[in-house]
Amino acid sequence: MRNTKSIIGKEKTNTSEVPFFDLRRQCEKLKVELEDAFRRVFEKGNFILGENVRLFEEEFASYSDTKFAIGVGSGTEALHLSLKACGVGPGDEVITVPNTAVPTVSAISFAGAMPVFVDITPDIHTIDVEKIEKKITKKTKVILPVHLYGHPAEMGQILKLARAHNLKVIEDSCQAHGAKYNGKDAGTIGDLGCFSFYPTKNLGAYGDGGMVVTSDGELYEKLVMLRNYGEVKKFTSKIEGFNSRLDEIQAAILRIKLRYLDEWNKRRGNIAELYQQLLKGSDIQLPHEREWAKHVYHLFVIKVNKRNALRHYLEEHGIGTQIHYPIPIHQQEAYKKLGYKEGDFPVSEKNAEEILSIPIYPELTTVEVETVARCIKEFHDG
Ligand SMILES: Cc1ncc(COP(=O)(O)O)c(C=O)c1O
Repeated sequence: MRNTKSIIGKEKTNTSEVPFFDLRRQCEKLKVELEDAFRRVFEKGNFILGENVRLFEEEFASYSDTKFAIGVGSGTEALHLSLKACGVGPGDEVITVPNTAVPTVSAISFAGAMPVFVDITPDIHTIDVEKIEKKITKKTKVILPVHLYGHPAEMGQILKLARAHNLKVIEDSCQAHGAKYNGKDAGTIGDLGCFSFYPTKNLGAYGDGGMVVTSDGELYEKLVMLRNYGEVKKFTSKIEGFNSRLDEIQAAILRIKLRYLDEWNKRRGNIAELYQQLLKGSDIQLPHEREWAKHVYHLFVIKVNKRNALRHYLEEHGIGTQIHYPIPIHQQEAYKKLGYKEGDFPVSEKNAEEILSIPIYPELTTVEVETVARCIKEFHDG
């Protein structure tokens, strides 16, 4: 019997196994460039808000085809500070989904506001735009869609509703670097877009990091202050701020990695296509890509009836999997206080029982993809 615990979401333990992810493969490829970048940062001796942060902000804004980018401490902080920049606070409501990473919602509650949930669509796992309007009240300030797994939410409808009700739109693009909605970059469609550089993301740092993008000069100015003690200049705080800065070392790494993002996203797309071909015809719901979307496959999430048994079977065959996410936020102990009950969000709740994320990352080999698909088929076809 293998030590299955060690491979779920962890590093590769022997060559016949397929780890859920393996960050060492990418580090190895970039070693020379990264070492050179580290050396230059050390030689400069400037570790906070230096030239790498400034240049990475410019390069990320240009990559996303937007005006401004503000480097912050994490994706959670990108969301939290964006809400603060929009003036969100106690007594306000923010509409989002229960099928997301916890930080989407903790950013809202840390801003002092009330998260209000809308269920997701079963095919693309993003906010069900038909269900938003009846959740809008006088207290609603922001709609916060999540571009989950790398597929954008239906932004056209969301913007229409936001304009009609005078609401801001903050996009949680933490899983969607390079994704597009009708040709426009995810994160640049609403008022503010928030990115995470958590190491496993499509663009990941070697620690924590995040970014907010916007084309609104006023929001930009606010965010620059909010991330740095509210300062307009050293020791002069104009507003109440915080410390949430992207650091120089991470920015230097991210500047190198940004140059590879399109190539890596393309490889993710090719792996997704291969999975689609190999798993076609089995009784498994495969990821769907709407006609207006460019999916960047941060995760490849399948839906199956016997999810837990399949997961166990894959574990026994050395294949790492994860579940994104096993407990919808309204059912998490920390958020019981919001007062939702079982059955309030049936699509999210059913999803939590059926979804399974299988390995997808640019360094995954074709042989490994074939191994994963063969194993899934073996299980399904008995
Ligand atoms: C959808 C989503 N939102 C927010 C976050 C928070 O990002 P971070 O971990 O960088 O704080 C993440 C990352 O885990 C995420 O996947």
